[in-house]
Amino acid sequence: MNEITIIKPDDWHLHFRDEDMLLETVPATARCFERAVVMPNLVPPVTTAELALRYKERILAARPAGSSFTPVMTIYLTDKTSVQDIKEAKQAGVLAAKMYPAGATTNSDSGVNSLESLYPVFEALAENNMLLLIHGEVTQKHIDIFDREKEFIDQHMVNIVERVPNLKVVFEHITTKDAVDFVLSAREGVAATITPQHLMLNRNDMLDGGMRPHNYCLPVLKRSTHQQALRDVVKAGSPKFFLGTDSAPHAKHRKESDCGCAGCYSAWSALELYTQVFDELGVLDKLEGFASLYGADFYGLPRNTETVTLVRESWEVPTSITLPNGDPIVPFFAGKQVSWKLK
Ligand code: NCD
Ligand code: ZN
Ligand code: ZN
Repeated sequence: MNEITIIKPDDWHLHFRDEDMLLETVPATARCFERAVVMPNLVPPVTTAELALRYKERILAARPAGSSFTPVMTIYLTDKTSVQDIKEAKQAGVLAAKMYPAGATTNSDSGVNSLESLYPVFEALAENNMLLLIHGEVTQKHIDIFDREKEFIDQHMVNIVERVPNLKVVFEHITTKDAVDFVLSAREGVAATITPQHLMLNRNDMLDGGMRPHNYCLPVLKRSTHQQALRDVVKAGSPKFFLGTDSAPHAKHRKESDCGCAGCYSAWSALELYTQVFDELGVLDKLEGFASLYGADFYGLPRNTETVTLVRESWEVPTSITLPNGDPIVPFFAGKQVSWKLK
């Protein structure tokens, strides 16, 4: 097959950032995605309905002319989030709340310290038919960074899913066989997003032969057996697993630093790279479900009606992009060949 046409995809997890950066990130995503779930980890974070509505306006203002792209807004849970905050978010059209354990990842300092005390908020999400999106890693410093996702499942994820049985939960950007197995065997209403980097790479791609900061993201790349488990599950085509790029821009000097930021900026190549992976796996017929159908179904949103076409054609990801403020950024897969192209 040299060409594939699918229903227009959605991106169920990304970071647009704010201000003039939106002039770079919003068009990059709107070129091929109809909707995107916008993560609320701004500085300061998007913790209320009012902040989410204002952020949405700034995103809409950055859309290319004529674009129908629609951001799906989220709020950021903190130790202080109340049941009233959830009700107000619901009324404002916010569909989901994002939980970052405090300190787990980029801009998560205001995140949750005491997960136990958030159960009333989780109940309120379920009552309001909103989703809980989880960065699933523990933050205990004595736990090995490669084990933090599995530990989160054992310490927290199992409890959350069991104690609030009607809550829809998305285990974001999963990286391990443990997470795959957990989601597969979990009750209805539990799903996961998977990024292009975790399908394409393992920790050797970050550390073997030299450190590659542009492949550093959180949760960190794992050993190849985990990468293989992620590839196997998208190959099988379970509707519990769908597309979430986790496109997360950081300027070049913030990545290439003695304490480099976590995140891969993949918006310009993500859909093409997913297509490449599904092609390598011999299941291009499963791409549409993963990219365009299962996420919408899980969120309870209508499926898109337009289509996009990808063609088998090699192109090179630029080695650098200039951000609106003049800073260079190195995109994910910079300087490498991609075998599919958006028509
Ligand atoms: C994300 C970011 O930069 O905001 N970074 C990342 O490595 N994935 C945060 C996140 O999704 O955890
Ligand atoms: Zn995260
Ligand atoms: Zn993210």
